[in-house]
Amino acid sequence: MSSRSVSPNLALDQLVARRRAEGAAIVHLGFGESRLPVFRPLVSRLLEGASRNAYGPVAGSAEARAAVAGYFTRRRMPTDADQTVLAPGSKPLLMALQLVLPGDVLLARPSWVTYAPQARLAGKQVFGVPIPDECGGVPEPEALRETIRSARASGHNPRILVLTTPDNPTGTVASPALVRELCEIAESEDLLILSDEIYRDIVHDPWRPVLSPAEVVPDRTIVLTGLSKSIALGGWRIGAARFPSGPWGERIRDEVLAVASEIWSTLAGPMQAVAEYVFAEPPEVVRRIAADTRLHGVVANAVHEIMVGAGALCRPPTGGFYVYPDFEPLRERLDWHGVTDSASLQRVLLDDFGVAVLGGHHLGDDPGALRFRAATSMLYGQTAEQREAALYAERPLSLPHIRDELDLLEEKLSVFVSSGVTKGAAAFPAGVR
Ligand SMILES: Cc1ncc(COP(=O)(O)O)c(C=O)c1O
Repeated sequence: MSSRSVSPNLALDQLVARRRAEGAAIVHLGFGESRLPVFRPLVSRLLEGASRNAYGPVAGSAEARAAVAGYFTRRRMPTDADQTVLAPGSKPLLMALQLVLPGDVLLARPSWVTYAPQARLAGKQVFGVPIPDECGGVPEPEALRETIRSARASGHNPRILVLTTPDNPTGTVASPALVRELCEIAESEDLLILSDEIYRDIVHDPWRPVLSPAEVVPDRTIVLTGLSKSIALGGWRIGAARFPSGPWGERIRDEVLAVASEIWSTLAGPMQAVAEYVFAEPPEVVRRIAADTRLHGVVANAVHEIMVGAGALCRPPTGGFYVYPDFEPLRERLDWHGVTDSASLQRVLLDDFGVAVLGGHHLGDDPGALRFRAATSMLYGQTAEQREAALYAERPLSLPHIRDELDLLEEKLSVFVSSGVTKGAAAFPAGVR
């Protein structure tokens, strides 16, 4: 019997859908999807692409690869089309990389739910490294050095460092100085970097600097990107990778193509037509992504305020559409609900308070901690019309359907963190607690 199970965030989304269908009122913050409408011009691209029914090259069409190369080149990573590969999402590309790259894996702790299971599927050992105070998606440098030392001392071979900026689950952007420091460690310890930049275009402040490790140590960095987040196309499954130029990069690319050819063959033809258009970044696409990003920033900050107001510690969000609160300051109170770790925190919030979040234990975090990931992009509305209104509203927080959800979340959390006190007060005479 296999011990494998469906990825916890996908499983949670299905559970919430079932409970809502049964009539439960749930504030759903449990799924990392940009719930925004399809950008209309993409529908005609898709229709035009429908006649592309041949398999085509495994790496993607020459035109789509040229568009991806242009996308990276405009981000200070000069790229030739041959250095790029398209695929049905960046997830299968990451899996293929785990299969072909040598060595064990170093992950920020917490990090995206899929990295560790993929590494294990590829037969690798995973080493989690705590994140710095200021941001997630990257390990704290000194802790990284120490983890490498002790992993090697116990006979392991940590070679792959996964960096995610902006990050899922903390919704933060690592500073260029920190990225440089990690690149130095990669050089001195001979690590390969998988730089997951799928949220790169969702930086809330357009002036905040973002540095890719591929700008610092290009020969040892593979960059991943995709259209699931920035332009809300998760279900269309379009991802891309950029490999280093030169013989090593070519070899890894060819090995990834070998895996691809045995699993997914190629990105679906109509999706290549879409990729060609979006990665070329015509002005209307740039405007749409800017509108998405603005909304993500406004709502993520509003949810951050609610979490902090409830008494949690939480890094201010600067990218993506997540917050990652820590309810440690309320541990004693939450104990009254039977909340003692992140699994019980997730369960009680959903079952007793109708708030769906993903517990930190699913993200490699300390299971005893009281942390969870809240995906704030789930709050834009239940209907296509509401989401469209959210996208183009001057003041999205004033829209009744968003305001109501935020108010409901605030109310539920306030009862959650205060009802423990009431219970406690009733159970113990004054002065005992
Ligand atoms: C950090 C990160 N990387 C990669 C992915 C996978 O995206 P896709 O396979 O849709 O390209 C996700 C999706 O949740 C993510 O959050």
